[in-house]
Amino acid sequence: MKILKIILVTGIVGLLITSCNNSSENEKKAVIKPGITKTDWGVFDGKKVYLFTLVNAKGDTVTITNYGGAVTSFKTPDKNGNRSSIIVGFDSLQPYLQHPPYFGALIGRYGNRIGDAKFTLDGTTYQLSANDGKNTLHGGLKGFDKVVWDASIASDTVPELTLKYLSKDGEEGYPGNLNVTVHYTLTNDDGLKIEYEAETDKATPLNLTNHSYFNLSGNVSNTILNETLMIDADHYTPVDSTLIPTGEIKAVKGTPFDFTSPKKIGRDFSAVPGGYDHNFVLNKKDSSLEKVAELSDSISGRTMEIYTTQPGLQFYTGNFLDGKFLNHGGEPLIQHSALALETQHFPDSPNKPNFPSTILKPGEKYHQVTIYKVKLSR
Ligand code: GLA
Repeated sequence: MKILKIILVTGIVGLLITSCNNSSENEKKAVIKPGITKTDWGVFDGKKVYLFTLVNAKGDTVTITNYGGAVTSFKTPDKNGNRSSIIVGFDSLQPYLQHPPYFGALIGRYGNRIGDAKFTLDGTTYQLSANDGKNTLHGGLKGFDKVVWDASIASDTVPELTLKYLSKDGEEGYPGNLNVTVHYTLTNDDGLKIEYEAETDKATPLNLTNHSYFNLSGNVSNTILNETLMIDADHYTPVDSTLIPTGEIKAVKGTPFDFTSPKKIGRDFSAVPGGYDHNFVLNKKDSSLEKVAELSDSISGRTMEIYTTQPGLQFYTGNFLDGKFLNHGGEPLIQHSALALETQHFPDSPNKPNFPSTILKPGEKYHQVTIYKVKLSR
């Protein structure tokens, strides 16, 4: 009887193992179909909100919502083949409506700050919404991160999403009707490509960016101070106590801002009161698409390269994250649990004649591209 039982149990366990093996082999063999799918995510301002899932030929995914155009996750494998998200975010619309600090969102009209929330253009002074003390930050009270974008898909077999938004003349104090289009694409080599286009009917400052927060380890309980960063920038723009650039373009050499060779973010951190929250003046000379930064993490083995057409990069070490919001898995997002690398023009350019111009005029076509490309370190 005992022997029979053992034979039976062994048989069942054997069967289970065989079927498990088969299913994992099937998974391996399963043909991955690249494309994009759409699910209902709720309603805001009377408009339908969706979550789009972009899948590439490797089976890696990016999820994006048309609320604020926010990237909610970017899942790639670590060195052990386990997929986890390197971008922080939420799995439902509700927390996005509680005004998190721009997690994954599209930022406009003006990424980062404009001093005293005003600027003068062609003899007219424009008063903007002040939402960061006396300054305006990331578009004002209701920036592009807090509106529902019109979403369209060219084909459900291509992982590309197009978002459009019309920012009306006078919105948040900015002049001109501005038509903005953003194309998000997940490439087969794990590049999250963001392409921005815009046109206006009156001259306006414009500085579009994406505010994804990254933790390459895929686990926000690992501090980003242990990640290694290279920024191809010999200069940065120092700021005053309200984080408005002083106007100086300062050499990074001999300062904690020197990331020209890969450096652990935490290495000189104690010498930067409040943490890094600065615009780096990229060495690239023109608006061609070039590699400007590289972030790597030894725990997961992931490396992320950043390519952009933009002249600046805002490096922010999540200094204001206070644990109020919980990441996908329920972990609190605390100080330095994630970082942002925002490709952009320099903060407060409309008030800084020595910075590259951010003015878009009628008849001109705004066009910028940024790619966040993830791979495993060699
Ligand atoms: C940018 C700014 C920071 C902060 C974050 C959002 O990175 O430079 O000062 O406002 O956005 O919290």
